[in-house]
This record gives sequence, C-alpha cells and structure tokens, in this order.
Amino acid sequence: MTQILLTGSLSKQVISIGRICGFKMKIDINLIQEFERSINTLHPEKGKIPIHILGYGEISLVFEFVNSTEPIAYKRLPIFDTEGQVKRHIAAYEIYHQILAKIGIEIPPEDSVWLKSNDETIALYCAQEKISSSSIGNSIIHHDISQNDIKILVKLIMRKLSKIWLFNKRSQKLEVGIDGQISNWAVKGYDPEDPGISESSELIYLDTSTPMVRINSVDAMEPILFLKSAPSFLRWALEALFLEEVVSRYYDFRLVTIDLLANFFKEQKPELIPSLIKLVNEFYLHEVPELEIEPLSYLEVDRYYNGFLGDRQIWVIFQAARRMDRYLQTRMLRRSYNFYLPGKITR
Ligand SMILES: Nc1ncnc2c1ncn2[C@@H]1O[C@H](COP(=O)(O)OP(=O)(O)OP(=O)(O)O)[C@@H](O)[C@H]1O
Ligand SMILES: [Mg+2]
Repeated sequence: MTQILLTGSLSKQVISIGRICGFKMKIDINLIQEFERSINTLHPEKGKIPIHILGYGEISLVFEFVNSTEPIAYKRLPIFDTEGQVKRHIAAYEIYHQILAKIGIEIPPEDSVWLKSNDETIALYCAQEKISSSSIGNSIIHHDISQNDIKILVKLIMRKLSKIWLFNKRSQKLEVGIDGQISNWAVKGYDPEDPGISESSELIYLDTSTPMVRINSVDAMEPILFLKSAPSFLRWALEALFLEEVVSRYYDFRLVTIDLLANFFKEQKPELIPSLIKLVNEFYLHEVPELEIEPLSYLEVDRYYNGFLGDRQIWVIFQAARRMDRYLQTRMLRRSYNFYLPGKITR
C-alpha cells in the first residue's frame, strides 16, 4: 500500500491516499482528489468536477468523469471509519476477484484507490472498465428482445451462479457469495443494433465492490459496513434484526435465485416470472442435481418481493429513512451528507 501526504486549499482536504501496489488501471488520482474535495452528494452531476451517472444501485451510484479520456466507471464507497477497515476491505476485494476469476466468473479489469480527508471521511473509489450500458442485463431485457432470449439470459446467469455453489461444495476453507441480480451482468460484445442472446453468449459480472467471501467461516469484509449507508437512527435496529440475514442471503443459492427472479417485479416484467421459475427448477434438477436445491414456487417469489416487509417495502422504507436522515443532517444540523441517494425508483 503506498501513501502520499497531500495539502490543499479548500476547507475539505484530502490528507492521505492509499493504493495497492501494481496499479492496474490509469486512474487519474488528481482528478479524484479534486472531486472528493468538492463533492456534491445532493446534486451529483452539478459538482465542480463534472460526472456522468452510469447507473444507480440501492446504496451507491456508478459514474464516469466527463473530462477523462479513460473509459473507467467509478463507485465511491464512503463507509470506512479507519484506515484498517479500508485496507481490510481492499484485501477482501482482491481475494474475491481472484476467486471469481478462478471459478470462471469473468469480471471487468478493476482497480481501487482510497482517500482520507481532514473531516475524517475515508472514501474508497472502486474503478472498473466502463461497460456499454446497452449490454447490461436490466437494459437488455427492456429493448427489442424476445421472451425466449430473456429466458436464455437467465439460464446463462444460473450457469454462472451455479459455479459459485459447486465451488463452495468442494472448498474446505473458502465460501463465496454473490448478488445475482439482472443489473449485475453484462453480455460481452452485445450489439443493440442486432439484439439477441444465444446459449454461447458470454457474461461478465459487474457488482464486485462488495467482496462476499468467508475464510474459515469469517467474513473477509466487515459485515457492519453493509449498514454504513443507513441512517444512524436505524443502524442498531438493522444490525440487531437484519444484518445476519441480509449478508447470509448472498451465500444461499436458492435465496440468490429468488432475488434474481423477484427482480423481474422491480423491472416491471412480472409476467415472465412463472416461466422463469419453471426454467430455474429444471436447471436445479438437470444441470446441478448434486446441489440438491428445493424447487421454487411462485408464492415464495411473490412473498419475498411483495409480502409484508418484503424486498419492495424494505427498500422503500430504507430509502425514505435515508432521505429523512439527509434532511436532518444537512438542513437541521448543517452538516455535510456523505452519500449519494437514488432518485425515485419505480418498483
Ligand atoms: N463497469 C461499469 N460500466 C458501466 N456501467 C456500470 C458499470 N458497473 C456498474 N454499472 C452500472 O451501475 C449499476 C449499479 O452498479 P452495481 O451493480 O455495481 O452497483 P450495486 O451494487 O447494485 O449498487 P449498490 O450496492 O449500491 O446497490 C449497474 O447496474 C450498471 O447499470
Ligand atoms: Mg448491482
């Protein structure tokens, strides 16, 4: 880990920067540093350093710098209290990427850099080669593609996901998790002018910034970091009630599949769900019988998303609480707010 001490003139100053050795991408550190100093979390695209938003997750947003010639997508994670935490996170992130590659889940070239400021924030910038947005799963399913092609896409995702659990079954020391949602996958070489998916289409996994790997049953990343973007008034309750469940969900093939299929409610394509359930159940039975996964039912997928305190309600409540927290922090307490919040999400 290299560290460079810096000085600056704005009230928010970056006081140290950390980067792993063997730089993998052409990250413009000066630009990131200037960006971090002048960040505008309220109006992401109106900051001093212009950015273009590439996509929103529930927690963070992915963007590129308008004035950079490098095709790099960044995700800013301002969730660390100590340098020890961010270093542990990067180590976990590196291990996770190596394991995914070894298992046969391709990811884009990636890199990372962290910055510590004089206001005590430590933000990790995860960098990834920029992928054309029309090749990302949630875009593909909304453009000129047949239902049959969507089914093939889901089958290809299932094939990738099953590699994780086939690995976990064999592995003594390591256990890997993954977030299988449709928006986390891109189709290599996808041509929106000639859309279509075939059994030989190749997928790339994008959502690599949350390293889900356990070494001898210990989470490589600190699980509590999952909750760092939650309002402080909710964090203790979330930790007590949901943290274990939320993290464990990504290590369970059946639950990851339910989450993937329930995503079609959010993507406004619920009519596809029954046939996707059939496809998944056939996949469990014929392609990975050794994993002995119980078949899914429509009721389960529906309840998971639409039920009382199901995925839809949880995220609506969570995002409303974050907006309330931002209001309290910025308007009442006159503090800065460190996270980007997504706009209105149709669910
Ligand atoms: N390398 C990339 N190039 C272009 N767009 C990207 C890239 N990585 C992510 N995106 C876009 O940003 C969206 C969110 O990215 P990602 O899935 O990594 O975040 P997320 O984990 O879902 O967010 P969160 O953890 O905050 O919920 C993706 O669905 C995609 O549209
Ligand atoms: Mg995602």
